[in-house]
Amino acid sequence: MQKTMINQQRLWQSLMDMGEIGGTEKGGVCRLALTDLDKQARDLFVQWCKDAGCTIRIDKMGNIFAHRAGLDDSLPPVVMGSHLDTQPTGGKFDGIYGVLAGLEVIRTLNDKGMETRAPIEASVWTNEEGSRFPPAMVASGVFAGVFELDYGLSRADLDGKTMGQELERIGYNGPDDVGGRPFKAFFEAHIEQGPILEDEKKQIGVVTDAQGQRWYEITLTGQESHAGPTPMSRRRDALVGAARLIDQVNKIGLAHQPNACATVGLLQVFPNSRNVIPGQVFFTVDFRHPDADVLAKMDQALRETADSVTTELGLEMAFEQIWYSPPVPFDTDCVALVRQAATDFGYSHRDIVSGAGHDACYISRVAPTAMVFVPCENGISHNEAENATPEDLAAGCNVLFQAVVERANS
Ligand code: GLV
Ligand code: MN
Ligand code: MN
Ligand code: MN
Repeated sequence: MQKTMINQQRLWQSLMDMGEIGGTEKGGVCRLALTDLDKQARDLFVQWCKDAGCTIRIDKMGNIFAHRAGLDDSLPPVVMGSHLDTQPTGGKFDGIYGVLAGLEVIRTLNDKGMETRAPIEASVWTNEEGSRFPPAMVASGVFAGVFELDYGLSRADLDGKTMGQELERIGYNGPDDVGGRPFKAFFEAHIEQGPILEDEKKQIGVVTDAQGQRWYEITLTGQESHAGPTPMSRRRDALVGAARLIDQVNKIGLAHQPNACATVGLLQVFPNSRNVIPGQVFFTVDFRHPDADVLAKMDQALRETADSVTTELGLEMAFEQIWYSPPVPFDTDCVALVRQAATDFGYSHRDIVSGAGHDACYISRVAPTAMVFVPCENGISHNEAENATPEDLAAGCNVLFQAVVERANS
């Protein structure tokens, strides 16, 4: 039996303490990006990192880096991290685990009086979820040079508030340039957010790849009119168009199995009055697949069906793909470090492809990157019921610890 390196109870308690900020009655968390609650969570993380002896840097996208000096502090750091923002009905673990596992690695190094050759950092990436400000992973995207800084700062929520305004309001519009400094490696620990590890009774997922995503925004415009006097033959009902398209989105997902996912998660009906025929509907589409070619076929199918449905119903359409994040292969050396650590600890493990997007996807463009997954209860995430066991979370953190320390000393 291997001894546990990190402090399981401390990691769990930190997750529970952080989960109180925006905690919901059902045991989940609602902490949207750049709200007052997000500020509180950031402040708590920064305080914990200062208590652990780290120096803090914040960049212009509000990304936070807690630095633990290396023996040669001029070397690029090995960075760990994830996000503190959540979905509206999110859980205590999605993102938060990767942030606090990074802090736990640093606390454990302190406990044991261990030094590393290269410095080590724990990081928080702004607005990973993309729930309040689409797209997802926007601040890690700016860091990696995928998006311009102006693009990141000008992303707006449904009320028209921009990330730049909200960063300033909560005091996290840091002075540092975004990106442009090398990482020796980046490691992100995360709950799996799907059922594979739990079903196969594996404690660790060695993440080799992440699937690609395409996000769309579609507005259908017909004509508002009275629900009583307007005959069925004279209607241009935008919601009927949306309903047909939503069904088609689902069918496109089903037609590209195995592995395709297709979701309409946001729908706004105007004027949303029970006796007015809807004149306009806004909705989003989220397509995912590990193979870029299949994702392109799904895109083609969506465009064709959208054209035919709107023509048939006499609707106008504004159709925009707002985001494409291609499939990501992670760094084979970093992945091997994760696999080796899982083996050394005697944890059951398997290679796995991430179904979700993660900041690691963008950071992998500018640094050798890998991820560690642990199981979550019933495979449920983006849900207040999201849960994971203290033992599995500690196992993932032990793997993270070993991979990070080995990389930092190499
Ligand atoms: C972000 O959580 C995503 O993968 O949708
Ligand atoms: Mn996440
Ligand atoms: Mn998420
Ligand atoms: Mn995510």
